Amino acid sequence: MKLDIKRAYNFNAGPSALPLSVLEKAQQELIDFRGTGMSIMELSHRSAAYEEVHNQAIARLKDLMGISEDYEVLFLQGGASLQFSMIPMNFLGEGKKAGYVMTGSWSEKAFAEAKLFGEVAQAASSKEGKYRRIPRLAEIQYQGDEAYLHLTSNNTIYGTQWKEFPATGNVPLIADMSSDILSKPVDVSKFSMIYAGAQKNLGPSGVTVVIVRKEFLEKANSNIPTMLKYSTHAKNNSLYNTPPTFGIYMLGEVLGWVQEIGGLEEVVRRNEEKGKLIYDAIDHSNGFYIGHAENDSRSLMNITFNLKSEELEKAFLAQAKQEGFIGVNGHRSIGGCRASTYNAVPYESCKAFSEFMEQFQKQNG
Ligand SMILES: Cc1ncc(COP(=O)(O)O)c(C=O)c1O
Repeated sequence: MKLDIKRAYNFNAGPSALPLSVLEKAQQELIDFRGTGMSIMELSHRSAAYEEVHNQAIARLKDLMGISEDYEVLFLQGGASLQFSMIPMNFLGEGKKAGYVMTGSWSEKAFAEAKLFGEVAQAASSKEGKYRRIPRLAEIQYQGDEAYLHLTSNNTIYGTQWKEFPATGNVPLIADMSSDILSKPVDVSKFSMIYAGAQKNLGPSGVTVVIVRKEFLEKANSNIPTMLKYSTHAKNNSLYNTPPTFGIYMLGEVLGWVQEIGGLEEVVRRNEEKGKLIYDAIDHSNGFYIGHAENDSRSLMNITFNLKSEELEKAFLAQAKQEGFIGVNGHRSIGGCRASTYNAVPYESCKAFSEFMEQFQKQNG
């Protein structure tokens, strides 16, 4: 049964828009999951029906991102925030050090957690310029004997995104890809570990995806609590304890949707087209809208901008809300405006928002 419900123009930063076709399928399967007479939430996580969903989600992610057999794909809980602690807990310790590239609030949080476990240094930072840009590769400084180098591939709050990643040689590279995983093709082999909270491009909140090189796992500390060891989850196919089964089911369906529309090449084409609509509205506004990020660091996932005065910004946000644009206020820590244009945000929403921006400028410019 198709519901005649008006879908919102959803620009939330996360949790955020999901593909309508995935929601409809989940609705259809909600009460009787594939002939089991139960919802997926009522199935045992040890049942064959659930296991198929679980393994299919892993297989789809491997297929879409080109993840080789050298890596484990794990589904964990505790959000990307727990990864800020688990990474140093597993890979830092006495006599070990790590480098962190600082590109915003999430890097700062990751850095602060790592400090609790070992020696950490800032390999580069763009804080001085209010995190308007991603440091150039040549600016990144580390000694070469670090346990790992950590970066945040997309800065959800400031609206900046890495366009190319450093080749770190023997130093394992770890990336927090929470807000741009699956938004474009990425060479996974450059990384020893990639992690992401699911609630932006992958599915609902409650699942954290970890992609980790098996060789890197062998270097992990063993004197840490069982649940916080990556190896526990790797050895048990993320079924050591009860996983968030509904979230993993939804994630698998979102991955299926990405496969159906043509994979990451098509996803990035769509994201570029959507991003252009809104960035053009900023760039053609003669300074009425002021983009936060420097041009070569602009994010295709979170588009951040200000208006000339706080009053004008308030009026813009109030009118946007009135016209049905949800979540376009900036993060509470920095204010301003932000449109999050994740994979499942339709072109039509971005088109409508860019037209609204033009119209607001005409009325108030
Ligand atoms: C880049 C980035 N890292 C980490 C987090 C924290 O994620 P979680 O809320 O899943 O702990 C977020 C949340 O928005 C984020 O955008």
